[in-house]
Amino acid sequence: MRILVVSDTHNYIGDVLEAIDRLKPDYTFHLGDMADDCDEIRYAYPNINFNAVLGNNDFFCKNYESELTFTIDGVKFFMCHGHKYKVKAGLELLKKQAENIGANVVLFGHTHQRLSQCDNSVYYVNPGSGRKTYALITTDKAKVKVDIREFGDYGVEKNNYSLSPAELKTHLNYTTVGTPLYFYDEVTSTFDKLKTKEFENGALVVAKKQTNGRGRLGRSWQSEDGGIYFSFYLDPKLYTDNVQLINIICAVAVNDVFRKYGDTKIKWPNDIVLNGKKICGILSIGTLEGSEVKYIMTGIGINANCQSFDKSLLYASSLKSETGHTVDENILLTEIIKSIDFNLRHIDIQSQIQNYKKQCITLNSEVTVNNINGDTILKGVCTDILPDGSLEITDGDKKININSNEVSVRGLCGYV
Ligand code: BTN
Repeated sequence: MRILVVSDTHNYIGDVLEAIDRLKPDYTFHLGDMADDCDEIRYAYPNINFNAVLGNNDFFCKNYESELTFTIDGVKFFMCHGHKYKVKAGLELLKKQAENIGANVVLFGHTHQRLSQCDNSVYYVNPGSGRKTYALITTDKAKVKVDIREFGDYGVEKNNYSLSPAELKTHLNYTTVGTPLYFYDEVTSTFDKLKTKEFENGALVVAKKQTNGRGRLGRSWQSEDGGIYFSFYLDPKLYTDNVQLINIICAVAVNDVFRKYGDTKIKWPNDIVLNGKKICGILSIGTLEGSEVKYIMTGIGINANCQSFDKSLLYASSLKSETGHTVDENILLTEIIKSIDFNLRHIDIQSQIQNYKKQCITLNSEVTVNNINGDTILKGVCTDILPDGSLEITDGDKKININSNEVSVRGLCGYV
């Protein structure tokens, strides 16, 4: 039986790598929303021999149908992607075409819609943006099988959405960030725990709860049940020109995932906000040996399903509180790690800064800049994010550059 792997995974190439590794497919295609994504996939993974890659650039114009025709053994194939096509019909068609050449089709879809009730070899995937049709796939080469079914909008109901080490390990087999993965129910801080592990680029500590979580500017980070807390090591030698931009790269990667849950934005330097409330914070720490940075630890706290926050945290909220839906923490974390892993592999810093600017709510807004003690030291309009990640504030005809290590920024009437 020959096998085709068709991916529509945006940045979540981890799924494709997993499929290719397990199935050793005869044909591999990638069909994506954006030509840029597709180019990035080819660039970042030169060893994968995609037979065809297709995408277009109209994602933000809501006009992102794409069509791909190709021929195998004289049989014409047509693949489609986008809103105007019915996912189920497209799937049935592809399956039929594959059967004509005695091949089976394995489709990998948007991972946030993949049901995590899979074991090592069975997946339900959504092969396109439509939410109701899923293909059940076994990735054991001996018994590859595709079974097309319809479920409710979010697939089969699960009753446990909280972090599970087994589930995370299943999905993070193919990423550098997350290998190795250490999981704890409770730690003081994932930074503390990571420091007890030998330095290894990508090593990741995940915890369900922290008793002494730390935030920017010496603040603490409330880390109750329902949140996702993690820290990972990065080798600064791999990012020599861009060490100070790791936070920016991570913020874009994280927000790319959050945007599927709501209209989230990045608040400079790297908070993720939804409805004007903070739902995620990012902090990177470099450890010096003499004057050399020996390793970087990046820590991320996500308020996924947290229910309540300390009264002093006026602007804190969670994805669940803001959207009204319980979030599957395993899927959310898996996607975020895959997205970070991808962005770190492919550091085209200019395009990442451009992405950051598009998603940054602070840009072009009027703000006050406060020092560590909370005193306002500057008021003005944010007029640019500079190539080193600093913020340009314009106050009349004065332009001042602000570095994130020193200050916090607030909107004139609130947090953003
Ligand atoms: C911020 O102040 O916005 C940054 C918050 C970073 C919190 C995370 S939670 C996981 C990791 N461990 C910590 O102690 N802090 C970071």
